[in-house]
Parts: sequence; structure tokens; C-alpha cells
Amino acid sequence: MGGVQSPRFVCCRPAALVATLAAVLAATGCGDGEDLSKLRMTHSESGLTGSEYFAQKCAQCHAANLTIGPSLNNVYGRKAGSLSNFKYTDAIKQSDISWTRENLIQLMLDPQDLVEGINMIESNLDEEGAELIVNYLERL
Ligand code: HEC
Repeated sequence: MGGVQSPRFVCCRPAALVATLAAVLAATGCGDGEDLSKLRMTHSESGLTGSEYFAQKCAQCHAANLTIGPSLNNVYGRKAGSLSNFKYTDAIKQSDISWTRENLIQLMLDPQDLVEGINMIESNLDEEGAELIVNYLERL
């Protein structure tokens, strides 16, 4: 072996990780393996981004340093009511749903309709705003 190919290039860990992540996203997302980079970034009327909506509508309870609502880091794909360090209502613990894109949007538009008895108020978002927040949450 002349050492033409360094082991560093043979072992392509980052690429494998990216591929795995893409596969997971494709499997848990809308089913069509959507490309996250092509998703809408700003609201067509307000011009706000998902993170700006999050700051306005969610952060007062869900910011990392607060305990009013559970942490939303890695919420995408998580089973509802499953963090051990947050005291959820029985309603959400027994809901038996996971945080898919569809469920997150539904939660923002009408929490009680998704999980009757959930201790979360309506956020007064339109569907586009809710989608932007999910796009943001998917990246957390
Ligand atoms: C007034 C406080 C408050 C606001 C504002 C709020 N939430 Fe919540 N959220 C909560 C509480 C409290 C819970 C736990 C509900 C329970 O135990 O029934 C919760 C639960 C959740 C969960 C379930 C997490 C899990 O671990 O299962 C998600 C997802 C969520 N909120 C997303 C959002 C998003 C997105 C927004 C902004 C659009 C938002 N919330 C705004 C208080 C809030």
C-alpha cells in the first residue's frame, strides 16, 4: 500500500451520519423525503421567520431556561409527554401520540382538539405560522 488513500477518507463517518439523518427524516417526515432546505422560511404576509414566531408565541413557556413548559429540544419525533424532568398532565402522558409534523401543527392550531385536557393554550397562529414553527423545531 502506497498510502495514497489515507484512512481518514476511507472512514467517512460524517457522510454516513448525514445519510442516516436524511433517512430518519424521510421516514418520520411527510413520507416524501422532503428537502428541509426547500421549505418556506418566512411568512408570506408578516415576513416573520419560524424562530421569530417561536420567540413570540412559544418561548415564554418553552425557552431552554424555563420550566413552565417542557423543553422542545429534540421534540420532533419524540413521544408526547415523555420527558422525565417535566410534570405533564395525565392527558398528554396518556395521549399515545408522537410529535410528527402533522401533530405539531395540529397542537398549535387546536391543542384541545388534539389532546383533550392538555394544559396548553391556543397560540393564535395561522397554518402558515404553525408550519414555520415546525420547520424551526425540526432543526432544534
Ligand atoms: C402559556 C405557556 C405555553 C405556551 C405559550 C406554549 N406552550 Fe407548549 N406546553 C405548555 C405546557 C404547560 C405543556 C405541557 C402540557 C401538559 O402537560 O398537558 C406544553 C406542551 C407542549 C408540547 C408537548 C411536548 C412534549 O414533551 O410532549 C409541545 C410540542 C408544545 N408544547 C409546543 C408548543 C409550541 C410550538 C408553542 C408555540 C406555538 C407552545 N407550545 C406554546 C405551555 C405552553
